[in-house]
Amino acid sequence: MARLVIGADHAGFHLKEELKQRLIEMGHEVIDKGTHSTESVDYPDYAMLVCEDVRQNGGFGILICGTGIGMSITANKFPGIRAALAYDLYVAEKSRQHNDANVLCLGGRVLGLDLALEIVQVFLNTHFEGGRHLRRIKKIEKIELKNMNSGEAGK
Ligand code: RB5
Repeated sequence: MARLVIGADHAGFHLKEELKQRLIEMGHEVIDKGTHSTESVDYPDYAMLVCEDVRQNGGFGILICGTGIGMSITANKFPGIRAALAYDLYVAEKSRQHNDANVLCLGGRVLGLDLALEIVQVFLNTHFEGGRHLRRIKKIEKIELKNMNSGEAGK
């Protein structure tokens, strides 16, 4: 069973609630970072809460906004976070096998509960293959480090 840190904006709220319930029923530990209603909020705030928790405490993040795009853009700004926006099962599988993704981004206005749940299950049940893929992730980490130290961040 996995430690799952979940967060959404208003456009992802309903899918978050439905997914959360199903994942808890399946025996996963689910930490809900909000939002807690359909009142309009800003997705970077929730991406930050989830990514900081995953960085500190491990496990996987699940982030949901309308399309999943804003959440994935934000999440990938965090060192050590590899966020994958998945709309189908193939992409969910490859995001783990090849990219060792630790945050899954979903589009609440795009996916129904059944497909979203399948995507999450494939994501959680697939392992990183390492090897040449690890070499590529090490290159991503080098780019991350270089840009963090360059004084360019935020410009
Ligand atoms: C909110 O309207 C929407 O822009 C947001 O949920 C997300 O889709 C952004 O990428």
